[in-house]
Amino acid sequence: MKILLLGSGGRECAIAWKLAQSPKCEKLFIAPGNAGTIAYGENVPMKATDFDAIAAFVQEKGIEMVVVGPEDPLVKGIVEALHATMPSLKIVGPSKAAAQLEGSKDFCKQFMTRNGIPTARYQSFTAAEYDEACKFLETLQAPYVLKADGLAAGKGVLIINSLEEAKQELKEMLNGMFGAASATVVIEEFMSGIECSVFVLTDGEHYKILPVAKDYKRIGEGDTGLNTGGMGNCSPVPFADDEFMQKVEERIVKPTIEGLKKENLEYKGFIFLGLIRMDRDIQCYHAGDPMVIEYNVRMGDPETEVVMPRIKSDLVDLLDGVCCGNLNEKTLEVDERAAVTVVLVSGGYPGDYEKGKVMTGMENVKDSILFHAGTAFNAEGETVTAGGRVICVTSYGKDLAEALAQSMKGAEQVQFEGKYYRRDIGKDLQNWGK
Ligand code: AMP
Ligand code: GLY
Repeated sequence: MKILLLGSGGRECAIAWKLAQSPKCEKLFIAPGNAGTIAYGENVPMKATDFDAIAAFVQEKGIEMVVVGPEDPLVKGIVEALHATMPSLKIVGPSKAAAQLEGSKDFCKQFMTRNGIPTARYQSFTAAEYDEACKFLETLQAPYVLKADGLAAGKGVLIINSLEEAKQELKEMLNGMFGAASATVVIEEFMSGIECSVFVLTDGEHYKILPVAKDYKRIGEGDTGLNTGGMGNCSPVPFADDEFMQKVEERIVKPTIEGLKKENLEYKGFIFLGLIRMDRDIQCYHAGDPMVIEYNVRMGDPETEVVMPRIKSDLVDLLDGVCCGNLNEKTLEVDERAAVTVVLVSGGYPGDYEKGKVMTGMENVKDSILFHAGTAFNAEGETVTAGGRVICVTSYGKDLAEALAQSMKGAEQVQFEGKYYRRDIGKDLQNWGK
């Protein structure tokens, strides 16, 4: 099968790595890809949101399956755009209507409420409803959670301790702090606990739950400092034990799939459940229960960099099941080993940083997998940094400690000016429950 993968990050590099291992993958194209994806296929200089160019390319090359990495093309309706002229093309990704689960937080909250899926209490408000919004804030307890309704490049959520400050920030959000994305603001109750990322692969009828991961979002060790796109991930997640996962499946996964079907939201692809394991009772739920923070309609980054290595089964076969509606006939085998990925970032990230730094030493990394994120080639053909998150070092181990130790060795080998990384990915979980 000829496959086109859309996107250019570490997530796409990890998906490309996995797709290319399949005997069913005859030829892989990545658009636009990065300096790492060329190890697994051919990069095509095409934007993931340029639907006309993608349609023409699919026809010209005889592509049979398109795998959509990021949310942007999905929220903009790539599935409908390509199916308009190629109805039998296999596309891994939800319809535009279903992608609203990520594209609109208000839509997402309404979907969960309609389908009885455990999530924080909430209300949505526009600028005209500022006074009502303040009244709703007064009914909640600190800290206060304010979310821009639309896509805000992962920055649209504020968590604020004081009521007065929350009212002030709310006013600024409604007045365009995040542009059109915050014309509507979702205010919700705070959920206290520990987070994890659960990924579900669905054909709209059947589903498979992929290995669970935990994201480390803050720039500093010990989860301090500014939020980033993700500094590392680990899998498995010891607190996502059998009892927890059974609740996730019964209370969240099954009602989600049922809800999508009932509401005619066509979904063939990855569902990313941002979950929290509560550390206290809330509503009718108890400490230890899972609740949903959000849905994303794609894989996570850098979660994918630990999830893909832990899937033993053929990904092309699984994705074929997703597109053909027979995912139930496919098997998902999981690697028992732990995996830890550590993201090497540019100095200054998540603030301003320089690009174009020459990268060396990658060939010395022997016992880890390198997934490129923000990398490119310069005019001399050298690999250079081209983003904040530059490259991910993923290692296996018999447990999280061993996997982290191995990734630390790999992280030392790769060199570029200003390199920074966290040394504590998964460390807080190493002794969980012991
Ligand atoms: P989101 O963009 O919805 O993923 O939110 C970003 C982050 O804000 C989440 O990963 C959580 O850490 C935090 N967050 C969002 N909503 C809540 C909530 N209701 N209670 C506690 N933390 C939250
Ligand atoms: N790592 C979080 C995300 O991909 O949104």
